[in-house]
Amino acid sequence: FAIQKIAVVGSGSWGTALARIAALNAAEKKGFNHEVRMWVREREIPGQGLLTDVINSSHVNHRYLPDVPLPHNLVAVSELVNVVKDATLIVLVVPHQFLTPVLEELSKPGVLATDARAISAIKGVEVAGDQIYTFPWLIEQKLGIPCSALGGANIAMEVAQSEFCETTIGVPSKDDAALWHAVFDSPMFRVHPIEDVAGVSLSGALKNVVALAAGFVDGMGYGGNTKAAILRIGLLEMAAFTKEFFPSSSSLTFSHHSAGVADLITTSFGGRNRKCAEAFIKTGKTFAQLEHELLKGQKLQGVATAEETYQFLHARGRTEGYPLFTKVYKISFEGMDPKTLFDDL
Ligand code: NAD
Ligand code: 13P
Repeated sequence: FAIQKIAVVGSGSWGTALARIAALNAAEKKGFNHEVRMWVREREIPGQGLLTDVINSSHVNHRYLPDVPLPHNLVAVSELVNVVKDATLIVLVVPHQFLTPVLEELSKPGVLATDARAISAIKGVEVAGDQIYTFPWLIEQKLGIPCSALGGANIAMEVAQSEFCETTIGVPSKDDAALWHAVFDSPMFRVHPIEDVAGVSLSGALKNVVALAAGFVDGMGYGGNTKAAILRIGLLEMAAFTKEFFPSSSSLTFSHHSAGVADLITTSFGGRNRKCAEAFIKTGKTFAQLEHELLKGQKLQGVATAEETYQFLHARGRTEGYPLFTKVYKISFEGMDPKTLFDDL
């Protein structure tokens, strides 16, 4: 391969954690341009100046990944076109509700290198009526470049603190597998490539819906047995949904890989979706309020995914096939009694 240049589009908790690993690898491994650029939405930090300047001088993203030193070859840049200029490897990691304008900008003529390839670490789905799309698929369509998917049991702060963990990359080709493995694999962050882009992406989206159910269980004060039952049933719904609507995906992605069962477990114990769902039951506040109060600018992905998944299933007349997903939607959006979570499962 020619020398590869990495760009990271997104600088939230996960964006910054992934950018840190990519920059460490780019500095150490052969075949990479030394500098890795990370897209940061510019704003003024009172008394400190522009956010990009603060990150580039302190080498810390204080807001989204506090106290984690970032490598000096990771450079925060506010102009998206300058982030991706000449980049051959583009990591897309904005919260899913903000992807559309990013893709519009990136799809303008001359913005991307013709030999660029992308990977999506975004968790969510796009639904239009009775159609559902994964983000890697949408990215390929909009940008005309191959797109892989990255997902696994990866709570951002734990990854950033170099606690041992694994991730799965779903790849469209062996070249993508080799390149993305080189970008992210390290002794404490083990990367396993598999040929199931849709499965990795869908698993990451759907496990957030199940994590909301796990948070409801916590909020109602039930113990480990109940939560384990919800995770088992949820995992089956995740795999069944993918098999029904993306039949070329593999059920092994859910049962054997970090992107499946392992991500579901970690999110249902230590994730933001679980945390807000527990508070939803205990406080009666809306998810929008709780996101604002508890997440300090970070974004919930599971609530929107629960709604989109329900709308898709409803449009297909298939809600009864997915009772857990349907209950999560009705408890979150229609005021259904959380205790009905267990009915008909
Ligand atoms: P985050 O939840 O920390 O969100 C903050 C980011 O959103 C910041 O970059 C902020 O600038 C951006 N943002 C806020 N408002 C915006 C707007 N109007 N337009 C554009 N950007 C805006 O982000 P994250 O944790 O990096 O999550 C990104 C994706 O990665 C999500 O899909 C998430 O599910 C996934 N993910 C997160 C984790 C994790 O532990 N944080 C782990 C795995 C995957
Ligand atoms: P939350 O968004 O619920 O924190 O989940 C993070 C995640 O996706 C871990 O892999």
